[in-house]
Amino acid sequence: MTEPLLHVLDDPVDAVARLLADQAGAGGAIVLTGGTSIGPAYEHAAVYEPNWRRVSLWWGDERCVPPSDDRSNYRLARLTLLDRLAGNPEVHRIRGELPAAEAADSYELDLGDRPLDLLLLGLGDDGHIASLFPGSAQLRERATRVTYGDAALPPFVERVTLTLPTLLAARRIVLLAVGEGKSDALARALAQPVDEATPASLLRGSEAPLEVFSDREAAKLLAN
Ligand code: 6PG
Repeated sequence: MTEPLLHVLDDPVDAVARLLADQAGAGGAIVLTGGTSIGPAYEHAAVYEPNWRRVSLWWGDERCVPPSDDRSNYRLARLTLLDRLAGNPEVHRIRGELPAAEAADSYELDLGDRPLDLLLLGLGDDGHIASLFPGSAQLRERATRVTYGDAALPPFVERVTLTLPTLLAARRIVLLAVGEGKSDALARALAQPVDEATPASLLRGSEAPLEVFSDREAAKLLAN
């Protein structure tokens, strides 16, 4: 159990963009997240570091939709990051166009036992991370690096997701939480007992210290 490092900043998105750009310049395996908060961080990172040739790019989770679908986490990264780079990474997409079980198996084979250098995560309003939802069977999966299942929050499409042990083993774990809507989940994640009802709280069992980047609104329920 390691103490999380909380950074409450005026612009946490830009701070994440800069650490993402630094990692891209250094190279290695980078795991992207989806959601609505992270897009501007990808856009800034593409400006700070346009050469991602030394990167192998992965996703922490994906919605089971085609890569052209506006719910696709791959499409989000393509529009905000990949299409803006001068040097392209090696892209390891979760094949959301396949049936969930097939997409998960394919991603598991692709990932193998590769170590993950930087894992980016968003925080669901319910405290989920990647597509590991509160109290779900997927959250309890320990035998595989990848699993799949239904979503407990919109979009209600099946999801493929890295499993908790895989998240916890990442060499660096960065969680972005922006806005008042995250304040309850962030307080439960960082200041309440570790509980499967708040998957983000389980990140406190990670090997590397959890690094949280938030704004004042998201951190408002946490003591200074
Ligand atoms: C997804 C994401 C998910 C997201 C959180 C936060 O596929 O939706 O991977 O884990 O990061 O739900 O999303 P917002 O940034 O939109 O609040």
